Amino acid sequence: MTTAADARAYSGAAKGLHWLIVLLLAIQFTTAFLLPHIGRNTPPSTVISLHFSFGVLILAVMAVRFVHRLMYPVPLEAKDAPAWERLLAKTAHRLFYLILLVGPFLGWASASAHRLPVSLFGIPLPPLAQPGAGWAHSAGDIHGTAMWVLLWLVGLHAAAALYHHFVRHDGTLRRMLPQR
Ligand code: HEM
Ligand code: HEM
Repeated sequence: MTTAADARAYSGAAKGLHWLIVLLLAIQFTTAFLLPHIGRNTPPSTVISLHFSFGVLILAVMAVRFVHRLMYPVPLEAKDAPAWERLLAKTAHRLFYLILLVGPFLGWASASAHRLPVSLFGIPLPPLAQPGAGWAHSAGDIHGTAMWVLLWLVGLHAAAALYHHFVRHDGTLRRMLPQR
């Protein structure tokens, strides 16, 4: 039976998925830093295929997480926080879902336009754009920019969580940690 208190708390699955995405994004930004410049004749390489595989994996995990979030919505706590702070937190959470559910497809389209095969750790996936497609090159630019914006937002989000914990001394960070 779901109690009123359960409906205000993140489930074990929501917490597990949150921290799994943190881990996968750490790996993914490492591969992104190591990516060569992707041009017309860039040959496939291990770092490129790792970037594609981890990127598609993040997309799949985020899709599961999004469905879970729709089924079990959890309202923000921190009732004494000013309205602008709550709005900022909510907006950041929504942007995380938006960027991580749409952004990977833009990178995928760019990969296809550059004739680079996309697979999930060896399982081949279909191309999303024609080789050389102009729109997909632009999608690649948007992909890169969106992911750097994501990294800034993550910095802000993590700083806010630590501020709540160490300065405000409220239970915000503990809401996302395993229950003792
Ligand atoms: C959430 C997952 C992902 C993150 C965080 C991410 C991050 C990034 C970042 C930061 C860059 C820019 C690198 C730079 O500025 O030099 C980049 C470039 C790129 N990514 Fe991703 N990526 C993700 C998923 C994917 C997926 C799923 C694919 C393809 C299947 C992909 C394909 C590409 C390509 C082709 C580029 C080069 C874009 C271009 O210059 O046209 N990425 N990615
Ligand atoms: C690395 C990328 C991260 C992403 C994409 C991310 C994403 C999210 C999202 C979407 C939520 C809303 C709840 C949900 O839908 O599951 C959330 C909540 C939360 N995150 Fe993160 N997060 C990240 C990193 C972190 C880090 C590093 C920390 C801690 C230092 C953190 C602490 C929290 C806390 C405490 C909440 C609960 C906020 C509340 O509802 O009161 N997150 N995160």
